[in-house]
Amino acid sequence: MPVDPVPGLLSRATELLEAEFAALPAFEPKADADAITEVLEAAARRLADNYPYFHPLYAGQMLKPPHPLARAAYALAMSINPNNHARDGGRASSEMEIEAVGQIAGMFGWTEYLGHLTSSGTMANLEALWVAGQAGQGGGLAKRIVGSEQAHYTHRRISAVLKLDYAEIPADNRGRMFIEALEAELRKGDVGAVVATLGTTAVGAVDPLDQILSLKERYGFRVHVDAAYGGYFKLISDALDEPARRAFAVIGQADSIVIDPHKHGLQPYGCGCVLFRDPAVGRFYKHDSPYTYFTSKQLHLGEISLECSRAGAAAVALWATQRLLPLVPGGEFACRLKQGRAAALQLDRRLRGDSASRFQPLTAGAPELDIVVWKLKAETAQRASQLAQDVFAACAARDLHLALVQLPLFWFAPAAAGAIGVEAGLVTCLRSVLMKPEHEAWLDRIWQRFAAACADTIGD
Ligand SMILES: Cc1ncc(COP(=O)(O)O)c(C=O)c1O
Repeated sequence: MPVDPVPGLLSRATELLEAEFAALPAFEPKADADAITEVLEAAARRLADNYPYFHPLYAGQMLKPPHPLARAAYALAMSINPNNHARDGGRASSEMEIEAVGQIAGMFGWTEYLGHLTSSGTMANLEALWVAGQAGQGGGLAKRIVGSEQAHYTHRRISAVLKLDYAEIPADNRGRMFIEALEAELRKGDVGAVVATLGTTAVGAVDPLDQILSLKERYGFRVHVDAAYGGYFKLISDALDEPARRAFAVIGQADSIVIDPHKHGLQPYGCGCVLFRDPAVGRFYKHDSPYTYFTSKQLHLGEISLECSRAGAAAVALWATQRLLPLVPGGEFACRLKQGRAAALQLDRRLRGDSASRFQPLTAGAPELDIVVWKLKAETAQRASQLAQDVFAACAARDLHLALVQLPLFWFAPAAAGAIGVEAGLVTCLRSVLMKPEHEAWLDRIWQRFAAACADTIGD
């Protein structure tokens, strides 16, 4: 593991924070340092049972190490342990949340909005669909929610929790919502909200938001953008291909947006974010709390969120990170995203250029963001799936960690077969999420290990 800068970073800041409270009478909290050390050592040993998510050779799932500043700021805030439900529990951290969320909203061009952090993307999407359900309850009947079959699986479950009907729209051969199928569903006249995913979980596909918004004019429905994964790519949309660029160009016209700082935003887990374009949706949240909301007349974030207690430390970490790495095109944060994307494009090119033609990346073209998927060439889908698992294991044995994903077979069919499924069924493929900027510099080493694993399992 690299030398951890966090303990060093923390000590000066902790001294400063302690000095701020020095006027209080001293007291010693009960803590048995020896016992604590022993348990911590046991925890460190237990934690070794993990993939090395922090390392560039971990190129599997959507897992990105938090920035050292985020970790330090989170730990610093933990000595206060603020709760951003109400100002009673977290005065400074509520302000920091408001500022940090304002910067995220600004990235989408919003100056007036309603928004806050959540404990996850799922909770953020739940709030967005809850508001969609409330807004769609004309005549007492809630309207249906639709999302692509590649939308995150939780949308269906969230809809069930909210007692809203949910329908899946087929996706085309690169995982984007098939717009003709959406229109057919809209003609039924009972769709209240469309979930557009900008950056699907499986392959980072970007739904055609521009076309969805055109349909909104004709059919009238709310548009919720699930950009939990892809939202930050707004900052580098000039580096994306045209369809994705068009989608990101109009993201500000959505009714709600979810983005996860704990995915690409360099934050520890426990940090999602939901934004609404119309601040008036705050009326749906209206409630009273008999226990809180007394210490300030200013807005308490608990008044506009479904969750009650929320980690103030998450807001402090996000605020600090965005202060160091502002969310601006051309800034360091954006450059880091570009490096991951460059790594993905390079890996995709290498797979396509394999002299023995052993790999089949998506027929429709290069990755839209920074997630690469590829099928192993074989006589049958079953054999291809087995090979993917063998290569996955052989890579892991060489400390290279990829992921597996099941995808529709027709995504790998020859271009002549068309964009919509002729070959039914799924095939297990390899998947690599190249989220870390270091992946670009490490791509040769990643490729060498991958090539060696392939030579052992499927031959040169
Ligand atoms: C597009 C998308 N939406 C929602 C989620 C759920 O987010 P969380 O895991 O933070 O609950 C994910 C998770 O991977 C995702 O990729």
